[in-house]
Amino acid sequence: MNLVLGVGGGIAAYKAAELARVLLERGHSVQVVMTSAAQQFVRPLTFAALTGRKVLTELFPRGSEETLASATEHIRVAQECELLAVAPATANLLARFAHGLADDLLTALYLAFSGPVVLAPAMNTHMWRHAATQRNVETLRQRGHVIVEPEEGPLACGMVGPGRLADPARIVEAIEAAAARRRDLEGECVLVTAGPTQEPLDPVRFISNRSSGKMGYALAEAALARGARVILISGPVQLAPPTGAELVRVQTATQMREAVLERLPEATIVIKAAAVADYYLAEVPRQKRKKSAARWSLELDPTPDILAEVGQLKGDRILVGFAAETENLVEEARRKLLAKNCDMLVANRVEDAFGADDNELTLVLRTGETIQLGRGSKRELADKILDRTLQLRLSLHAAR
Ligand SMILES: Cc1cc2nc3c(=O)[nH]c(=O)nc-3n(C[C@H](O)[C@H](O)[C@H](O)COP(=O)(O)O)c2cc1C
Repeated sequence: MNLVLGVGGGIAAYKAAELARVLLERGHSVQVVMTSAAQQFVRPLTFAALTGRKVLTELFPRGSEETLASATEHIRVAQECELLAVAPATANLLARFAHGLADDLLTALYLAFSGPVVLAPAMNTHMWRHAATQRNVETLRQRGHVIVEPEEGPLACGMVGPGRLADPARIVEAIEAAAARRRDLEGECVLVTAGPTQEPLDPVRFISNRSSGKMGYALAEAALARGARVILISGPVQLAPPTGAELVRVQTATQMREAVLERLPEATIVIKAAAVADYYLAEVPRQKRKKSAARWSLELDPTPDILAEVGQLKGDRILVGFAAETENLVEEARRKLLAKNCDMLVANRVEDAFGADDNELTLVLRTGETIQLGRGSKRELADKILDRTLQLRLSLHAAR
């Protein structure tokens, strides 16, 4: 793989040399880009000698005024590389990446690059724990970048705590896993449902639920990044749709059902992350109900069971359902998996699932196997769900 290794200005910059060596040994082609601060710690010559390539350091290299090729090097490198890894990623680089600054070669290249990004931060424990750094890390995670968490241990500054650059082997592992994911959903059409539905009670009132749509939107974003065509059928949410998704907006469970059945023939993978209302008012009055002292009793009917219907129609599509429960999570997910003819059920607790950026998930498979995905950002978990979904798809193909 053709990758760029960005080196930031921290004590751990010298460890990037070892990382570059291991990457080369594993057959990757490595273009090193150093920040100006990084060159205070290690000379570019070290990396040039290791990689056999000129190390790039300047946004405005000498002579750039004479040739367009050298003036637009950051664009060329961004187009040619398949993955951007940064080790050590300084607090300063994390901040500049998070906020989209482009005031040197590495940050400009980052903005011009649209492929997978792996960041291995290293810094003093207080710098790492600072709310500003944690906020930036969270932003970058939500953007789908892989953060190789720093390790705990004695630091160069004399402190003991989290902040040491992760072991090169861990960074290489993360780089190769991120590269393997790249475009692995090419040729697939992923239909994702997201958000709540709203069931009208009269022209101004509705019943709904607390779903934010974040999990479904993260899945759509992750599938797009991995090369899939994405149809996103969304209830009312306060989120910007991911660029490239074919967005279908719906309000009610009935509209959600119609949209799903209409687009189902195009899909090869269906992920039903929406929190569709279970009950609705079948006959919605045309006039607003006036406030009065009298009790208002509503008789609600069950909404159509879209998941079960898709389960019947799914053919050789992979069908992934979601279950949010307050109790007996895994048992309920297993029951739903079989009852709805899903291939995989993603189980989450109501208290974790709704509204937050993070979640904790368990996958339940038809084999009876349960897989703990642990806690993470919804974007990270989206990739893990897609990893498993793709495995199921490949094993079903192989079985045929
Ligand atoms: C001796 C020394 C060690 C440093 N180590 C780190 C570090 O490990 N991590 C970090 O984020 N910043 C560290 N810094 C601060 C950065 O060098 C500084 O924020 C710089 O602007 C980073 O530039 P860059 O992000 O463009 O590489 C260190 C500074 C000095 C003087």
